[in-house]
Formats: sequence, structure tokens, C-alpha cells
Amino acid sequence: MAARALIAGNWKMNGTQATAKALAADLAARCNTVPMLPRIALCPPAALLGLVASTISGSPIALGAQDCHAQQKGAHTGDTSAWLLKDIGCSFVIVGHSERRADHGETDILVKSKAQAALDAGLMPIICVGETEAERDAGKAADVVRRQVAGSLPAGATAANVVIAYEPVWAIGTGRTPTPEDVRAMHAVARETYAVGRSDGADVAILYGGSVKGSNAKVLLALPGVDGALVGGASLDAADFWTIIDATPRR
Ligand code: 13P
Repeated sequence: MAARALIAGNWKMNGTQATAKALAADLAARCNTVPMLPRIALCPPAALLGLVASTISGSPIALGAQDCHAQQKGAHTGDTSAWLLKDIGCSFVIVGHSERRADHGETDILVKSKAQAALDAGLMPIICVGETEAERDAGKAADVVRRQVAGSLPAGATAANVVIAYEPVWAIGTGRTPTPEDVRAMHAVARETYAVGRSDGADVAILYGGSVKGSNAKVLLALPGVDGALVGGASLDAADFWTIIDATPRR
């Protein structure tokens, strides 16, 4: 693994104040029982960030948001700036998730500007890329990931300030995962693309996301070039999420 592994839970649009507090408190309590944890981040819905921040306060768990706006402030109803996310205690922000690319028409150019805003605010963007099933079937998976990585990385990206997440769209929420060989190959594509014009390609953290569960985490997280996981559904269950954390190779 290139960097200290990161296991991030993307809660998506799930939870209430009560369930979020219980889940975050459960995970924070488990952290006390284990030495040598990977980096852990929870990415709740925006309205629950403050509650989760106070619940995990004093624990090694970091806070992440699921999106940010590219501007620092202004007339952007419903949006949240990276600066406000930093101010309320976030360390990470997911940008370019395939659900935002699909639901909100986010392009590589927009994702890049959001990632830049995250860097400017002192947040670490988790930049998501990944092909659709049609793109994979057409033999274009590597091309798509090359284009998304090259197009979404902000100018000042280094291994110390960005994380990339490879999430094949067809594996998200479906229970299907690519073969270990495909995961390894796609992470290599993402890493090679990141490394064009950069000298720290070996160090950039590249997470795998898409139907990661307690039952498959050990195999996926042991693959060369996989530096952690971005977990959706399984991150809503403390025991399952903890199994994934526990399956992460310790370094
Ligand atoms: P699932 O783990 O539910 O497949 O979601 C993955 C994901 O989209 C994380 O960002």
C-alpha cells in the first residue's frame, strides 16, 4: 500500500439524527479497543455533519462531507462551501461521486474546480472515478478512468493532499465487484494517469469502492495498489463497517 490506508464510509442520503449518533458513537467506542487502526472517515449527509462531528470528537475518526461547491461563498442556494465544511470540522470531502456525476450532471471540469476548492480550504478531496457497465462492455473502462483522473485532478494535487477513489458504477450498490485482477489493473491505470507530470505516483492513495462488505474486504484490501476503501451500504452497519476496518492490512 502506498499510503496509510483509509477506510471511508459514505452514508449517502441515509440516516436520522438518532441513527447517525448511534452509529458514530458505536464506531468511536470500537476505536478504543484496537491499536494500529487505518485512517477512518465518516461522510454523513450535510445536515448531520455537526452532530457526527461532536459525536466522534476525541476519537481517531475523521469527518468527511459528500460534496462541496467550487466557490467560497455567495448566491448558491442549497450548496455548501469547502470553507464551511472545514470550519465545522471536516478533513475530507468526496467530489465527483458517480451519483453526483449522474444525478447532477457533474463534469470533470466541475469536479476539478470542487477539488481545487477543497485544497484551497485545507480539505483533502476524495476524487471519484469509474466506468459504467456500458463503458466496460465496450472495452472503454481504462480510457474513461484515464480521462476522469486527468480531467478531475486539481493543479496542486500531490499524494499528500488528494485521495482518488476507483468506483466502477456497475459495482455500486449491486453486490457485484470486479475481479481482483480487474481492480488491480484499474488502480494501475489510475495511478499511471495521476503520475503523469508528478513524481509521487507511488504514494498517492487510491481507494476501491463498489459493494465492499465485511465478507469481501480482506481480498480487495490486500490487492497491490489498493490503499483502502470507500464504502457505501456496508458503512451504515457498525459491525459490518468494523469488519472492513479490521480486514485492512496494518502497516
Ligand atoms: P456501495 O458500497 O453501497 O456499493 O457504495 C459504494 C459507493 O458508492 C461509495 O461511495
